[in-house]
Amino acid sequence: MRRLVRETQLSVNDFIYPLFIEEGENIDAPISSMPGVNRYSLDKLNIIMDRVAKARIPAVLLFGIPTHKDEIGSETWNDAGVIQQAIKYIKKNYPSVAVITDVCFCEYTSHGHCGVLVDEYVDNDLTLPNIQKQVLSHARAGADMVAPSGMMDGTIGSIRSALDNNGFSNLPIMGYTAKYSSAFYGPFREAVDSAPSFGDRKTYQMDPANGREAMVEASYDDMEGADILMVKPAMAYLDIVKTLKDNFDKPIAAYNVSGEYSMVKAAAANGWIDGDKLMMELLLSMKRAGADIIITYFALDAAELLNKVNYE
Ligand code: PBG
Repeated sequence: MRRLVRETQLSVNDFIYPLFIEEGENIDAPISSMPGVNRYSLDKLNIIMDRVAKARIPAVLLFGIPTHKDEIGSETWNDAGVIQQAIKYIKKNYPSVAVITDVCFCEYTSHGHCGVLVDEYVDNDLTLPNIQKQVLSHARAGADMVAPSGMMDGTIGSIRSALDNNGFSNLPIMGYTAKYSSAFYGPFREAVDSAPSFGDRKTYQMDPANGREAMVEASYDDMEGADILMVKPAMAYLDIVKTLKDNFDKPIAAYNVSGEYSMVKAAAANGWIDGDKLMMELLLSMKRAGADIIITYFALDAAELLNKVNYE
């Protein structure tokens, strides 16, 4: 009876699985703060991609960990860079999996900020042309969608025009529309070595106190041509997910971020909660709030579970 009247169903089709790809060889390195999540070099990527394809997860979201960093993150538009190679490898060997790229600079800049610095501030408009270069390089490598996460104003519009003017008018954009300045990103920054060397990201990421401002951000991304609107983090921001769902007719994504994952894993490891049950409850809540798509480090575990049982 419960199955008949259940309002919300989780499905493998909802998930995007983030992957950390490190430049180098023979790397299959556990991230200590994110149990079950590893960094892989290209030659070891098959370990995780075999599981992703077998679980029928529709898409992966790629993050790069380069060896070369500089002031502006120029390695991001190197056509032979680690992400560009990973896109080609996955497209060739796992054609059933869509490849989405995170478009940002924080893993590639020596200072760890998400753009070009002028006097210790990220300069919005100096960063935009570099975002265009990065996106075009990902597109040339064969990415199926790009997802800019740096929270510069005008990002979506400048990416859309760069893609349209260079033969990639069919390539969709997922905007990190409402991305909050959050302590939930802690484990991720350790994972990809992207913690800012000074200051914080409060000048470009949103204040957790502001809900209505998400409508402003979403209106811009919508008008500028974003195809999917994302809210990040997820758990503590389900009101924002609901608001965007109620006000926009585009697909809404929720990014269930590193800290949300690590908290569940830590509590489960201590025997304080049932990790699998909590994972499914949280993912279901994101969907109930209105997320059409959930980006989550739980994707593989949840998909393998969903493929096995009809979860109660
Ligand atoms: C920025 C970026 C971040 C995350 C995804 N893209 C970190 C940040 O803004 O500091 C966080 C993801 C996570 O915590 O899981 N490129």
